[in-house]
Amino acid sequence: MSDQPTSFSAPRGTRDLLPPESWRWQRVFDLALNRIFGPAGYEPVDTPIFEHTEVFERGVGQTTEVVSKQMYTFEDRGGRSLTLRPEATAGIVRAVLENRLDKGTLPVKLLCWGPMFRQERPQKGRYRQFTQVDIEAIGSEGPAIDAEMIELAARFLDEAGAECRLLLNSIGHLDESCRLGYLRALGDFLRAKENELAAADRGRVDDNPLRAFDSKEPATIAALGDAPAITDHLCDDCARHFDDLRAMLDALGLGYTIDPTLVRGLDYYTRTAFEFVSDDLGAQSTVVGGGRYDGLAEALGGGHLPAIGFALGVDRLLLASRTLNEWEPRRVEVFVVALGDRAKGEALPLVTELRRAGLGADWDLMGRGMKGQMKGADRSGARWAAIVGDDELDAGEVTLKDLVSGEQERIPRGDLMSRTRTKES
Ligand code: HAM
Repeated sequence: MSDQPTSFSAPRGTRDLLPPESWRWQRVFDLALNRIFGPAGYEPVDTPIFEHTEVFERGVGQTTEVVSKQMYTFEDRGGRSLTLRPEATAGIVRAVLENRLDKGTLPVKLLCWGPMFRQERPQKGRYRQFTQVDIEAIGSEGPAIDAEMIELAARFLDEAGAECRLLLNSIGHLDESCRLGYLRALGDFLRAKENELAAADRGRVDDNPLRAFDSKEPATIAALGDAPAITDHLCDDCARHFDDLRAMLDALGLGYTIDPTLVRGLDYYTRTAFEFVSDDLGAQSTVVGGGRYDGLAEALGGGHLPAIGFALGVDRLLLASRTLNEWEPRRVEVFVVALGDRAKGEALPLVTELRRAGLGADWDLMGRGMKGQMKGADRSGARWAAIVGDDELDAGEVTLKDLVSGEQERIPRGDLMSRTRTKES
């Protein structure tokens, strides 16, 4: 074995996920699939980590920071432009259309998780490779499904021990009587304030005035102080949709703050937009972001397919959670310690017998002596050491040591399962 550390380090903005954090990481997916979203009818899917670049250009939108500045785009050996997915929604809608899931029973309720890639400036809670749990419900106009989604997100955060506030908005739909009219009003407002905006935001704002609200520049934020509010410009249908959603959230007892500046950084959003933010995270405070995207399927060449979804940033959830750190994974329960050649030959059959009976069991694979094996037992987190030597073998027994109290006794080998079985095993 080499003592030399490698001369390479992980690329900037990426990180290695190691125990014990990796256990909590898996716990998040387990909670998502088995506790919250699976039982509510959401089914797991997985889509490629890279897509044709156009999927994101058309889906997420050319004027967004994500597409214009942050994508990892490359040409493959066949000269095709591919992009590591910066988010999951566009790829999932592409998959739904390609596999004609939209022709089956609606809504299609899906759940996926995995790494996303954005070349942003790394800081606490912001990475270039990060992981999302992503939930999508495709095919329903809402607002009942909007309320369901928001309630599920709230409950998930609660189960995962993250205290978050819900911010809510409606950004209408792309119609003259609704958002297009608003964009004109906002564009006029911004042009009149052009000199007050941060230089970096001036051009951007001409392409899509809504993107002004994504700005982190203090000058732009100040200039937007008395900007017209989208909620005052919604058409009757969108206003009713928003009112109905709020009534449903009120009936569920979910508190929220209406934030007319919450426009979300991706172009596909229509109507409902929401975020859950944590006050424990500093600048990168959004743990969950989502909303309705009624026009995305059409932007990707499909028909009209209203939909809503959200993504939860797993990296941020782990930073914000107050309870996942205390969560104890199910791991090794019994560590088999074998003394002498005969017992070493018996150790694997014994470990296997325990594992087949459903117990967590491990043993020494490095040829260590008694002391080393006992250290290994402690390190494994096991409650029990099952010690086997020549004496025990001859008597058909094992010495069972309680690694918490330090007490030990000889017991018949046949009693090992019942003596070491915890409630969960
Ligand atoms: P998003 O707001 O871009 O939305 O990202 C959702 C969440 O992913 C954020 O709230 C944050 O927790 C996490 N996240 C984003 N960027 C980073 C980063 N650089 N480092 C760490 N965490 C990050 C979407 O991606 C939409 N696709 C959500 C959605 C699904 N809308 C509808 N369906």
